[in-house]
Amino acid sequence: MADKITAPIVRAKRTKGEKIVCITAYDAVFGQIADEAGADVVLVGDSLGNVVLGYSSTIPVTLDEMASHAKATRCGVKRALLVVDLPFGTYQASVEQAVNSAATLAKIGAEAVKMEGEYLEQITAVVKSGIPVMGHLGMTPQSVNVFGGFRVQGRGESGQWLLDSARRLQDAGAFAIVLELIPADLAKRITDELEIPTIGIGAGVHCSGQVQVIHDVLGLNPKGMKHAKRYVNAYDMFVEALKQYSVDVRTQVFPGEENSF
Ligand code: KIV
Repeated sequence: MADKITAPIVRAKRTKGEKIVCITAYDAVFGQIADEAGADVVLVGDSLGNVVLGYSSTIPVTLDEMASHAKATRCGVKRALLVVDLPFGTYQASVEQAVNSAATLAKIGAEAVKMEGEYLEQITAVVKSGIPVMGHLGMTPQSVNVFGGFRVQGRGESGQWLLDSARRLQDAGAFAIVLELIPADLAKRITDELEIPTIGIGAGVHCSGQVQVIHDVLGLNPKGMKHAKRYVNAYDMFVEALKQYSVDVRTQVFPGEENSF
């Protein structure tokens, strides 16, 4: 097995100009698949809410739900860096809240946590407590109600604000920053100006790395996303396989002799 990936190794990839591959996973099986495929970072994202738990946003996701899925994913991930999202309402209120929530996730095996937005004191305190922090700027889904929908952020003058914000996150101690749904030229400017890596999703090719939701990449989300590429249509493959299973049960083809004792 290649060397275990750590937060400093992810950060160093920016200096070496090596692209960083990040993918989400929410359980042991998908964690293992992502790890075996060679992802550098496996993110237990709070997209868990939309993708797995059937919620309409990430806002209802609780720390217990994140901890439970992170614990399962931990079992499948051996080499990649395991990053776990701090869900909505578990870090914004105070430094103490952020440190306690991050510690809960670290105890079940998170090697870093991710926080959306500019919570600088929280980032500094969590890093000081011993847990690396990944930042997240742009279209931050926990603030979807402030943005009024899933819209590209950072167009026009707000682009400069995002660049300044990214600098502040770096100064606060973040080891990497996710840039979500922002113009590619702005993501390039931010990437060029920062010393830490940027991980893009809908932010163009110039970011230091890319992150995708595993269900989008594998075609398990029936809804196509502009920022995502479907590498296989697993949803249709699974339906076809289960249809065949149903036929085989009904016609007594399954179980055969080879499946019987
Ligand atoms: O929750 C998530 O999956 C994320 C990534 C899409 C960046 O935050």
